[in-house]
Amino acid sequence: MIKNVSKNIGGLKGEITIPADKSISHRTIMFSSLAKGKTIINNFSSGQDPKTTLKLFQNLGIDIKYLSDSSIEVISDGKIYPSNKILDCGNSGTTMRLVSGILSGQSFSSELIGDSSLSKRPMKRIIEPLTQMGAEISSVNGCAPLKIVGQKLSAIDYISPIASAQVKSCILLAGLFADGATTVTEPNVSRNHTELLLKYMGADISVNNNSVTIKQSKLKPQDIYVCGDISSAAYFIAAALIVPNSDVIIKNIGLNPTRTGIIDVVKAMGGSIEILDKKECSGEIIGDIRIKYSQLNGCEISGEMIPRLIDELPVIAVLATQANGTTVIKDAQDLRNKESDRIKSTVSELKKLGADIEETPDGFVVNGKTKLYGDINLESYQDHRLAMSLYVAGLICEKDISINDFEWTNISFPEFEELFVKIS
Ligand code: S3P
Repeated sequence: MIKNVSKNIGGLKGEITIPADKSISHRTIMFSSLAKGKTIINNFSSGQDPKTTLKLFQNLGIDIKYLSDSSIEVISDGKIYPSNKILDCGNSGTTMRLVSGILSGQSFSSELIGDSSLSKRPMKRIIEPLTQMGAEISSVNGCAPLKIVGQKLSAIDYISPIASAQVKSCILLAGLFADGATTVTEPNVSRNHTELLLKYMGADISVNNNSVTIKQSKLKPQDIYVCGDISSAAYFIAAALIVPNSDVIIKNIGLNPTRTGIIDVVKAMGGSIEILDKKECSGEIIGDIRIKYSQLNGCEISGEMIPRLIDELPVIAVLATQANGTTVIKDAQDLRNKESDRIKSTVSELKKLGADIEETPDGFVVNGKTKLYGDINLESYQDHRLAMSLYVAGLICEKDISINDFEWTNISFPEFEELFVKIS
């Protein structure tokens, strides 16, 4: 589907509630499937990726039903069963990597496949540590399809070369089934939803700086409410900052410090962002924020900040085109391994709009503030986050733009445009 986007003239104004967090939604299904009893998940994501995880666990013999549009009941006897189907992870790296950890420690074999994008993404990063634990996994040159022959696993102490929540979570989930205590240490802390939700569900898990240790545990069902996704909120935060006269309130979004890099960057750029209210919900911190149109300045984004905003970097690039001075993004080479090579794809499409942006091996450099022209058709590379970032750019382009394959936004955020219309 080709999406046309026109300049917003009057400013974005009003209050919105952002739908459920994708990362947490995946984990609620996975962990409740391993918990003996009945779990109710409220405010489950309507995105395609979490639905892929839901279907996959149905195929692993778990009784999962929708009670309403966003409430789900999961009934499990605490274990999963062999599937007579190949397990399809669609576009979802989180599904493939986390489920591989779980399947490695079962007493049966499974096969995991993905779509053409997921089939090109690196899986060696999980195959290596899982193999060290005793897993038997075959791949096609380190990529999917993955054939996993379940084994008895033993614990490892793994020093991860990358800060990746998917790698960390995969090993921790294998650790749930391994003899002994499994420890993962990361160079910088990545999102910790796995740790928080496993703890909330009674796992024997502890955190010490950049290291997490888990022992074999029985999970207990809990009622879970999934908070709003700060990665989805990021498009509204960016848009409100760059569309003149905007003033937007976003309610009930996750404010987990391992995810709030975007808020720190907005503050460093001089943007007006205010946290109105904070509370705890199902082990996570949530709150409301208010964002207003602001004059922005460039900044450097690197190091420990990168995993705290990894998915927001394409829309931060849009923001940087409207900031005075230079914004440098480095240490983000793993962006090349996402749904598209997000360094290449972001730079190529923003250049077409007239942005002063250059690719570097591990990020990009943006000089602002520049006018964005439009009157052009852009590629989304079938990457949901790039499609949504380009839509935000379209709101300030002099002339209309069109974005190809816009339906890929359904991967994480089917309500995206409807919410923009609500505050336009
Ligand atoms: C995710 C972790 C991140 C992120 C992805 C979701 C997760 O990937 O990019 O969208 O749910 O664990 P990495 O941990 O591999 O960087």
